[in-house]
Amino acid sequence: MRILAIESSCDETATAIIENGTHVLKTLVSSSASFHEKYGGILPELAARKQLEFILPMMHHILQESPLETIDAIAVTQGPGLIGSLLIGVETAKTLSFVTKKPLIPVNHVHAHIYANFIEKDLPTFPAIALVASGGHTELFFMKDERSLTWLAGTIDDAAGEAFDKTARLLGFENRGGAAIEEEARLFKGKPTITLPRPLFHDHSLNFSFSGLKTAVLREWQKDSQHISELAYEIQEAITDVLVVKTIKAAEQNNAQTILLAGGVAANQRLRDKFKEKTSINIVFPSKDLCTDNAVTIGSAAYFIGKQVDWSDVSAIPNLSVEINSLLGQPI
Ligand code: KG4
Ligand code: ZN
Repeated sequence: MRILAIESSCDETATAIIENGTHVLKTLVSSSASFHEKYGGILPELAARKQLEFILPMMHHILQESPLETIDAIAVTQGPGLIGSLLIGVETAKTLSFVTKKPLIPVNHVHAHIYANFIEKDLPTFPAIALVASGGHTELFFMKDERSLTWLAGTIDDAAGEAFDKTARLLGFENRGGAAIEEEARLFKGKPTITLPRPLFHDHSLNFSFSGLKTAVLREWQKDSQHISELAYEIQEAITDVLVVKTIKAAEQNNAQTILLAGGVAANQRLRDKFKEKTSINIVFPSKDLCTDNAVTIGSAAYFIGKQVDWSDVSAIPNLSVEINSLLGQPI
């Protein structure tokens, strides 16, 4: 089954063609990130305009190599995301579906991140726990097999990526958030003298909380703004400690054979290494380019958990819940 996938939930415009959920025939990603730099965050109106500018040339390009006659279905991110951005991808996908009469498969962006782990690889051993840590989400899912997702817990305030982004900005890194913190942290050698809080670390639930971190970082920064690399190191330690402890707890509680890491924060090398240090459970993570937003994951999730629907039944849903199973369309 060959799926043409479209992703446009935020500042990336992406399209891909995926075969049988795991094999990538073609992938294209454009980003408007550089246009937002001077605003200190993503400007939704600008992101939507850039989506509109990028989408048609990208569709034209990808379809030149694999014409629509060779495609079996069209998949698109339905949400969550920015409404203006989502609409561009959703309306493009609906139009293609209407014109070609090919089925349309709406996909939950957060669920799709997990499927980056299935690309050009054998499927992992199940049951598995999946951690999605991105700019907007920090969620834990239980997977009985590759076609089932059960939401377990998530952040009660900021996402892990958001904590990286906000603290990076405090330290003077205007863009690249977590990647900038990771790079700066590598410069620190020795034992840190700063200790940041690990919120909900000893709490019995599987929930996360990261909003207190930026206040703690601000306090340290105001005390001493010289030791940037030490602070970056400790920020990375605090965030990754919490992610690792909660995810392993979820895996142990559910007798998981595998832990799947996903989302932009899963690109963090320290996080990957720490998981391997702390548990003997099999740890799987995607290639770094598949951690951040792309359309390959949308095509893969569409294949494994998607439901083909009529184009007229699909609309963009900016606040689409991650607790909704994409397969059943029902709360799980
Ligand atoms: O999944 P993603 O591309 O977009 C969303 O769906 O949100 O994730 C972006 C997030 C940003 O918060 C960014 O700071 C974080 O992923 N990120 C990282 C790294 N690379 C990207 N966080 C920690 N370390 C990294 N190397
Ligand atoms: Zn994402």
